[in-house]
Amino acid sequence: DHAITRIKNMKMIELGKFRIKPWYFSPYPQEITNLDCIYICEFCLKYRKSRKCLERHLQKCPFKHPPGNEIYRKGSVSFFELDGRKNKLYAQNLCLLAKLFLDHKTLYYDTDPFLFYVMTEYDARGYHIVGYFSKEKESSEDYNVACILTLPPYQRKGYGKLLIEFSYELSKFEGKTGSPEKPLSDLGLLSYRSYWKQTILEILIGLKPLEGQEKPQMTINEICEQTSIKKEDVISTLTTLELINYYRGQYILTLNKELVDTHRRIIDRRKVRIDSKNLHWTPKD
Ligand code: COA
Ligand code: NA
Repeated sequence: DHAITRIKNMKMIELGKFRIKPWYFSPYPQEITNLDCIYICEFCLKYRKSRKCLERHLQKCPFKHPPGNEIYRKGSVSFFELDGRKNKLYAQNLCLLAKLFLDHKTLYYDTDPFLFYVMTEYDARGYHIVGYFSKEKESSEDYNVACILTLPPYQRKGYGKLLIEFSYELSKFEGKTGSPEKPLSDLGLLSYRSYWKQTILEILIGLKPLEGQEKPQMTINEICEQTSIKKEDVISTLTTLELINYYRGQYILTLNKELVDTHRRIIDRRKVRIDSKNLHWTPKD
């Protein structure tokens, strides 16, 4: 019964050094979900029913990082790209883990059509999973993200925006604009709105007037090209910010000092950024 299966079913998970309380239902096998805590290998994401079982697993688990290719590294942050068909077990276990914190998405049991981008933090013990996003290998709707997650212990530290920034960096390399799959969760929408706002303001604030012009000029299409943010998201962001004004027969953007100042403060706080120089990746045709 649909209504019953959606009730949150797990009390606790242990993942690496963290104990995390799940938010939502996830279809782990029932004999596991009845336990007080399940124990997940932070490197291969296999789950075990006791700490002892996990310890036995860790003695033979060869992994210290996610499968797939490390396509980005800067400082301690890395991204691994893996194929949901070639690394099916890992991808399925990642979806099971993610579903614990995602309410509205149908879980894709069929991971074949997706690529997964797993973000890790490195220390002497290995590459620890922080979050990930999935992406359809081919999207008819120009979606560049399907599911996106920062694991709760890492939330509200800017990692979500780093994941989002990375997804747009891939779109730039593909020469396309993209947008996250709908519907977005409340937290997803907050994060995207904040990312769009900062990214667009950063460009507008940096604009200089060209020779012979009184004011700097830029079209919405140019904003899309530079950011890979889809046109409707650029327009909704500018509208929400109330930056678009109709003046003497044309639409113009006006920045006020207050907006520029708050923006500068926010950008200064955002220390870790994606650096396209460190991305070693070519789109698959
Ligand atoms: N309450 C209020 N604002 C929040 C928030 C919360 N609980 N969590 C994030 N935000 C805001 C932050 O303030 C930040 O905006 P700001 O920089 O303008 O202040 C913005 O969202 C992004 O924060 P960040 O720290 O980069 O994001 P995160 O690492 O916490 O990850 C999600 C954001 C959405 C990935 C994370 O909340 C998550 O995994 N949620 C569960 C899964 C989910 O809902 N995914 C999206 C489905 S489409
Ligand atoms: Na999602």
